[in-house]
Amino acid sequence: MPPAIPDENKILRLRREIRHGESVALARALTESEWERVRAFVRRTSRESLRLRFGQAADFLDDHTLKRFFHIVNGRGEMIWMPEQGGAICAIAHLVRLSPVEAEIALIVRSDCTRRGIGEKLLRATLVHAARQGLGTLSALVLYENTGMLRLARKVGFEPRKSCGVAIELEFDLRQIRDTAMAAFAPEPADAIEAAIR
Ligand SMILES: CC(C)(COP(=O)(O)OP(=O)(O)OC[C@H]1O[C@@H](n2cnc3c(N)ncnc32)[C@H](O)[C@@H]1OP(=O)(O)O)[C@@H](O)C(=O)NCCC(=O)NCCS
Repeated sequence: MPPAIPDENKILRLRREIRHGESVALARALTESEWERVRAFVRRTSRESLRLRFGQAADFLDDHTLKRFFHIVNGRGEMIWMPEQGGAICAIAHLVRLSPVEAEIALIVRSDCTRRGIGEKLLRATLVHAARQGLGTLSALVLYENTGMLRLARKVGFEPRKSCGVAIELEFDLRQIRDTAMAAFAPEPADAIEAAIR
């Protein structure tokens, strides 16, 4: 049997879906089946975790609310998620570009998956991904009460930048990992994706 010729739309879609080891980065609107995976993630995540992630309480079982908070900001946003075996999402990070060299990062781990190193793995993978995109700085706005995230951020090398009321802005200088990041994932992801679907 000759190998199937990949559908052009599928290649285009996958070009905007980059796999780095265990994490998947998406820079496009989610498909309905991907939204279904996000809904399943939210159903297994505590209201308190969602509040800490988004800085406010909301009804995430309401689809409109879910999409408002979890959508990928058009043209300057990315979602990086960590799937587990079987495909369910166990952690989600969002990157939003604030300028050509700076982006904001925030992440959340499914409640039944915390304290297993997943948040740290996703955060480090997202730093590498951001460095490979040519970004220079990542910032994160974290509530002062969020000791878990503050410890995680300090552990991977974020520094405090300024106080913003009930939250603190942290910053990570991506230049310190750029060389390692660039060497980490040869060949080019898009080529690898096309090869994988042939
Ligand atoms: C904060 C969060 C992302 C951590 O994810 P996680 O997978 O549980 O964290 P990890 O298991 O990778 O832990 C890595 C490090 O983070 C710190 N940490 C994580 N959770 C912690 C907690 N509850 N208390 C204290 N330290 C904690 C520790 O330093 C830990 O390192 P150690 O295991 O060597 O002590 C997760 O608890 C979460 O989703 N919280 C709700 C959403 C949120 O607060 N998002 C941040 C908004 S920017």
